[in-house]
Amino acid sequence: MTTNKPTVLTVFGTRPEAIKMCPLVKELDRRPGLNSLCCVTAQHREMLDSVLDIFGRRADFDLDIMEPRQTLSTITSKCLLGMEGVLERVKPDLVLVHGDTSTTFSGALAAFYHRIPVGHVEAGLRTYDKWSPYPEEMNRRMVGAIADLHFCPTAANRDNLARENITRGVFLTGNTVIDALQTTVKEHFTFREDILNRLDHVDRKIILVTCHRRENYGQPMASIMTALRRLADAFPDTELVYPVHLSPVVQEAAHRYLDGHPRIHLIAPLSVDEMHNLMARCYLVMTDSGGLQEEAPALGKPVLVLRKETERPEAVRAGTVRLAGVEEEAVFSQAARLLTDPAAYTAMAHAVNPYGDGQACRRIADAVEWHFGLRAEPPEPFDP
Ligand code: UD1
Ligand code: UDP
Repeated sequence: MTTNKPTVLTVFGTRPEAIKMCPLVKELDRRPGLNSLCCVTAQHREMLDSVLDIFGRRADFDLDIMEPRQTLSTITSKCLLGMEGVLERVKPDLVLVHGDTSTTFSGALAAFYHRIPVGHVEAGLRTYDKWSPYPEEMNRRMVGAIADLHFCPTAANRDNLARENITRGVFLTGNTVIDALQTTVKEHFTFREDILNRLDHVDRKIILVTCHRRENYGQPMASIMTALRRLADAFPDTELVYPVHLSPVVQEAAHRYLDGHPRIHLIAPLSVDEMHNLMARCYLVMTDSGGLQEEAPALGKPVLVLRKETERPEAVRAGTVRLAGVEEEAVFSQAARLLTDPAAYTAMAHAVNPYGDGQACRRIADAVEWHFGLRAEPPEPFDP
């Protein structure tokens, strides 16, 4: 694979990384001065493949590492070893990784071991609590220490890096998830999951739920699920739709606490276009997901975050996202308020875009070209 053009190898492995990196890979593919290649670790399998299908970009390399109930050590070591072969073969001039997963950390570490520069997309998010989110907070901090280029979604993310004395190679780009969202949400959309076509979006309040984080395994997840069932019991005008993550730990908890209720729909993970269109049509989002906290505000949907803290304070400040925590009573009562108090609901239900303007991929690709001397000026910073 010898070429005179700089080779950029984009590496990702889980569903959210794929959603946020596919639009970027396609933008890099369009740049004639770059040789753009893509390696998936397949830390996720079905949930990753679904995203690749929707965006229509096949991987150039696939490490196929996923195992049922995989541990952090197996993911990290299999990625690191798998990346070795790819890096030796491709000899990229830059490796791009995204966010804070085990794939992100091992991809960056593998590149560092091969003395290859690293660009970190979605850089600078922090809680400064190393156990929450676990292990993501340490993954992103370690990648921040390794990376040469840092693509920060927001000014607050850039300021976090500045506090850590990371000021070189930092670009304020917006989040690529907003670029993705602009391609998926449609005014008229037919769901492949038929239950979603049959939902009464007018007279019923659709509550969209997701919950999967490792730090919520066990008691927090049990409390959250109990609160969700109480909500469905207490409010007959609601329908809860929960596309359940394929993790066996999550599957067990969701089915144990939520099975058998006529208005709780436990369904398979949705493809990204279905998820975005369901979100655009729902009343309320309850989630511990990072990505949903960024997408729902752009669609004007209130979000209750099922976690104790968030590394995404921008939409909390804008008033569309609130931390509900992981205690049963707090989760129940915050949601109950939004179902019964129209003023409280309206105060949260307005569209804000603190995370991007749909131009993040273009800015990142411009910054990569500038890094290689293919462009005279760096990209203009994202200004919300
Ligand atoms: C991972 C990331 C987390 C991210 C989440 C997005 C780490 C440590 N965690 O967590 O930051 O928020 O992805 O969803 O990197 N499984 C399947 N098929 C799939 C995907 C998963 O069967 O397509 C099952 C497997 O049994 C797998 C398990 O889910 O072992 C857990 O997957 P894993 O990637 O280890 O953890 P997540 O909780 O998905
Ligand atoms: N998502 C999806 N189908 C689902 C659930 C989520 O396409 O059934 C999308 C969601 O819209 C967002 C991303 O997956 O873009 C978030 O992934 P996840 O919650 O797994 O990870 P996190 O963002 O918490 O790391």
